[in-house]
Amino acid sequence: MDGLTELLACIQDISGGNYSNDIMELTKDGYDPYVREVAESVGMMMVKIEAREFALEQAYDDLKSNIVNTVKATARGLSLRDKYTRGHGERVGRYAHRLALSASFSEEDVWTVGLAGILHDIGKIGFSDKLFFNEDVRVDDEMLAEIRQHPESGFRMLRGLKFLGPALDYVRSHHERLDGTGYPNALKGEEIPMGARILSISDVFDALTTTRTYQEAMPLDKAFGIIRKLAGPSLDSELVEIFIKEIEENGLEVVEEEFSTCTDKDGVAKPACSYLPDPKVSDL
Ligand SMILES: [Fe+2]
Repeated sequence: MDGLTELLACIQDISGGNYSNDIMELTKDGYDPYVREVAESVGMMMVKIEAREFALEQAYDDLKSNIVNTVKATARGLSLRDKYTRGHGERVGRYAHRLALSASFSEEDVWTVGLAGILHDIGKIGFSDKLFFNEDVRVDDEMLAEIRQHPESGFRMLRGLKFLGPALDYVRSHHERLDGTGYPNALKGEEIPMGARILSISDVFDALTTTRTYQEAMPLDKAFGIIRKLAGPSLDSELVEIFIKEIEENGLEVVEEEFSTCTDKDGVAKPACSYLPDPKVSDL
């Protein structure tokens, strides 16, 4: 029968997910009427399946994007309680994105690391009022223990969102240190995922270069000096150098205006905004 072998080959191709238009060739004159009829039906079926797959992909992308935006909004809600860290998550997300890109991460990993940066402190939402509204910047042992729970709390908040994948571990491990003295799990060296190392650098750098309760924003050279000092025991040395080069070439992130939910139109802090007492950079 003319074209039967080609018809079978086309059907096998389509069943393997290769939706080529070769099947339509078999509907033309010159082929056996039986082959032409089957080819036309299979061709129509292929077009319908393709359209449904496309619609499903779109729906999945929309769903994912809505969930991501909801989680980001929740993370930004932190600034309603903590004016001194407003914009911090956004900036850390952008620094992390830039560092992952400069370190030649894959497109998907760059996206994941950037998102983890925005979400990294989401666990602070569970802090008690004592931490948010205490005007005294001294931190006692009990408060320090509470501060140190936030990476694990963030991980637990987000772990139901499976599409976050490795971002969950990055959130949980953003305060780990290469020498094993970090928290919450005292991970050491290679045990700390690369994405978490990127968050640590971005987090510390942003804390140094923005004004906090305990310090004025530092000039760049001083901030670079500090992260170079932390490279080795705390931060990944190779990533620190890539990061410094990136900042020297492309500058600081400024997002406070865009993401601040804590000031009115004249830049005056709203009464609901207080601040977190931060003991030192390593406990941020
Ligand atoms: Fe943190």
